[in-house]
Amino acid sequence: MANASKKLFIKTWGCQMNVYDSNRMSDILSALGYKTVDTPEGADMMILNTCHIREKATDKVFSELGRLRVHKEEKIAKGGNMVIAVAGCVAQAEGEFILERAPYVDMVFGPQTYHELPEMVIKASNNERVINTEFPIISKFDHLPDQHTIEGSAAYLSIQEGCDKFCTFCVVPYTRGGEYSRTAQEIIDEAHRLVDQGAKEIMLLGQNVNAFHGVASDGSIWGLAELIRNISEINGLERIRYSTSHPRDMDDDLIDVHGEVQKLMPFLHLPVQSGSDKILEAMNRKHKAEKYLDVIAKLRKARSDIAFSSDYIIGFPGETEQDFEDSLNLARKVGYASCYSFKYSARPGTPAANLQAALVPDHIASERLKRFQALINEQQAAFNKTCEGKTMPILFDRKGKKQGQVCGRSPYSQSVYVTGNDRLIGNIIDVKITEAFDNSLTGDVVTQDDLL
Ligand code: SAH
Ligand code: SF4
Ligand code: F3S
Repeated sequence: MANASKKLFIKTWGCQMNVYDSNRMSDILSALGYKTVDTPEGADMMILNTCHIREKATDKVFSELGRLRVHKEEKIAKGGNMVIAVAGCVAQAEGEFILERAPYVDMVFGPQTYHELPEMVIKASNNERVINTEFPIISKFDHLPDQHTIEGSAAYLSIQEGCDKFCTFCVVPYTRGGEYSRTAQEIIDEAHRLVDQGAKEIMLLGQNVNAFHGVASDGSIWGLAELIRNISEINGLERIRYSTSHPRDMDDDLIDVHGEVQKLMPFLHLPVQSGSDKILEAMNRKHKAEKYLDVIAKLRKARSDIAFSSDYIIGFPGETEQDFEDSLNLARKVGYASCYSFKYSARPGTPAANLQAALVPDHIASERLKRFQALINEQQAAFNKTCEGKTMPILFDRKGKKQGQVCGRSPYSQSVYVTGNDRLIGNIIDVKITEAFDNSLTGDVVTQDDLL
């Protein structure tokens, strides 16, 4: 019998797909009487939804577990209990090792098995420790409830999972498994439900979202372009985004959609990882820097106001000063609105982890990362500056830090702060940008209506 008073706290690391998964775990567990709360105090169940992409991510999980152990012991001393679960990509990669190293952990399960949470919770409540890291034959998506947790007016929707690309540095093909696309109808139905619940923006998610190839109702296979065209017809949905894309899968049809579908936001995250062809080859990215520039140029032609962000790995084994400068030069040629850069982190089980001899000394990698980030900060500040004086539609989604301030997202995902009423939240309103900062913008609402 469900106990309506049970509290669930989920802490999420990693990519947007983990955020989506955490929300879906909430949905599943709410049917079992768990209410998701915003703080860990007093929680009856704690789920750490983890990320394995870089070394520090795993370390953070174990130090968090150390803290949770204290909470759990305190609760037990008072006659209560607390179920501790480790989910996500660290759970998939480390499995048994987590149960061994942290004996107070009750459940360990990977990203593809959380639809089995009801069974797992029963076992855990019978004091059975649970480990569930198989890749099931039946997709979790066939077992998720129709009810959705959405935060604010922008929702995530996973349409594709896993990856077959095997970039030599990356754990994702091992933690998430092979590439899998959901059916077009399943996605469209979910998009409708999200819009009915108040979503104005949907971000279509996948580790390789533009490799999407979902079966449509008539048996044909849709690519991402076809799916976006269809989803854009949903009344009430105002904005569409998708992430993360691989440059290799950026086909002409998808590029054309950027010119056709106004609801598709003019901002694309297109990770390249390096500007050096030698390093791109060693990474198994299977394209050259020139091809990336070519895709960027075509996208700009299709939609002149489009802006880009990317991911770069700095200090991949064998990266020389010249290779690094090629990355700087590629970033200069593109001119990003924002960009992530990470120091290479050797991941156990990946091919690049065997390239010990070619490792870039840490102090050199750190120094290069600093130089790269300085360039990106400059580019981001310059991009933000170009927004001054422009009027942009802003989707307001939260209160600002200061009293009387609300905050929203521009088409380019910049945070935009205005002075205004909380009633703005959940609406897309025109804002004239007054000032640009390194990481945000401020502006004045120009639409005169009763929301002000
Ligand atoms: N599917 C996406 C990336 C997913 S991982 C793509 O193909 O681009 C998110 C980012 O983490 C990657 O783009 C990469 O820049 C970074 N990353 C992945 N593995 C890494 C590693 N071993 N060391 C440092 N950064 C890494
Ligand atoms: Fe990782 Fe490469 Fe797959 Fe992206 S494309 S998830 S970087 S293996
Ligand atoms: Fe991390 Fe797994 Fe996402 S490793 S980046 S949470 S796919």
